[in-house]
Amino acid sequence: MKVIKKIAKLLLLLFIAIQFFRPEKNIDQGSHLAEFLNETNPPENVETILTNSCYDCHSSNTAYPWYNNIAPVSWWISGHIKEAKGNLNLSDWDSYSKRQKVHKLEEVIEVIDEGKMPLKQYAWIHKNAGISKEQGKAVIEWARLTKALYELGPQPR
Ligand code: HEC
Repeated sequence: MKVIKKIAKLLLLLFIAIQFFRPEKNIDQGSHLAEFLNETNPPENVETILTNSCYDCHSSNTAYPWYNNIAPVSWWISGHIKEAKGNLNLSDWDSYSKRQKVHKLEEVIEVIDEGKMPLKQYAWIHKNAGISKEQGKAVIEWARLTKALYELGPQPR
């Protein structure tokens, strides 16, 4: 019993200690969604879906849940956001070339079509983040049209 008590104490201390290591928050990281919204012009229903289901991980502004203040959950969330932004940061849309934009839109179509995004764990917790068939269709339609416009359009890169 003594040993178990000791271990429990140690774990508690460890838990307290890790609370001092806070990952930097993904809030106002200097880039904005304006360029993305201007160029790709999502209709209102699609914009709502992107807001509820994608921006938390794929933009420079996350609306954090309260439990983000608790390590190691905060590390896990921060890791997801970093990885997600590395793949696609909608707030950095203007940093992508035309070819990259077309490719990113192709990927968006793919992940929606395959039901890969938003991440399952995220959709479990954020009840309005799950994407219905109808919503998926709307996103894919918008992404296809936007992709075609880029391919036809005057933007040189
Ligand atoms: C909880 C965080 C989270 C949310 C919310 C989220 N994503 Fe992701 N996304 C990731 C992570 C992490 C990756 C990279 C690893 C992977 O592909 O699973 C990623 C990768 C991607 C990629 C790159 C392609 C690929 O196959 O890896 C695309 C495109 C994408 N997400 C689109 C979306 C869209 C569109 C939404 C909203 C419908 C969304 N994501 C919501 C975390 C998220």
